[in-house]
Amino acid sequence: MKKITPHVIRAMKGVEKIAVLTAYDAQMAHFLEEAEIPVILVGDSVGTTQLGYSSTIPVTMEDMISHTASVVRGCKTPLVVADLPFMSYQISTEQALRNSARLIQEGGCDAVKLEGGAIRADAVRALTENGIPVCAHIGLTPQSVKAIGLRVQGRGEEAARRLREDAKALEAAGAFAIVLEGIPAPLAKEITAELAIPTIGIGAGVHCDGQVLVISDILGLGGAYNPKFAKRYAEIGAAIAEAARTYKAEVTGGVFPDDAHSYLE
Ligand code: KIV
Repeated sequence: MKKITPHVIRAMKGVEKIAVLTAYDAQMAHFLEEAEIPVILVGDSVGTTQLGYSSTIPVTMEDMISHTASVVRGCKTPLVVADLPFMSYQISTEQALRNSARLIQEGGCDAVKLEGGAIRADAVRALTENGIPVCAHIGLTPQSVKAIGLRVQGRGEEAARRLREDAKALEAAGAFAIVLEGIPAPLAKEITAELAIPTIGIGAGVHCDGQVLVISDILGLGGAYNPKFAKRYAEIGAAIAEAARTYKAEVTGGVFPDDAHSYLE
């Protein structure tokens, strides 16, 4: 298969729905490539899924570069999009350029993602004009958890109008795709119809041009955490605990290692 580019993703709008998953290391990236997932997002959800934080706020550029580089080493064809973490792009356009360049040069990703609406248009324009493809992200933006909580956004006429304007401003600034997170499905449908770039939904209903989910959520690795929008496609967490329990029983019972797992001479 040929390397997926932002151009390929844009061209999928209206032709084929786009399935995006997060990954944080080479091993998972390898499996997602095997499943022909076209876009891998190295989300700053790495903070909650891998690093034990309660939000994405503490995630650093160093965390993102390290996990992005691992994902990039694990796959060839998917488009790898890496999140700019909290306060790595909000301070100035220059800061957004510098840190995006680090994700591309040191992490090896193909594109960056940043959160926020029209207020990010200048940064998105500067990045795209300087050769860095940008995926935008509006609606329930987890880096703003302290300001907006983890509530569905865009409810009510005024809030919906603002999100539609945000989406248009980000498209005009050059974003090649836009994540719509935690918004009512009818609003996501309207935004999707109004844009020429693909919308990638998470908790935004079926009418988006694609969907993104956090890998830990679909694999049942998140324990009791089970958001309404995240369908579990496997129970890997339970399988890991069961395998570890069986291993422990065999070690303590003197059953493992048997001859088949030993060097006998
Ligand atoms: O960090 C992340 O995984 C994300 C997705 C949930 C869209 O931003």
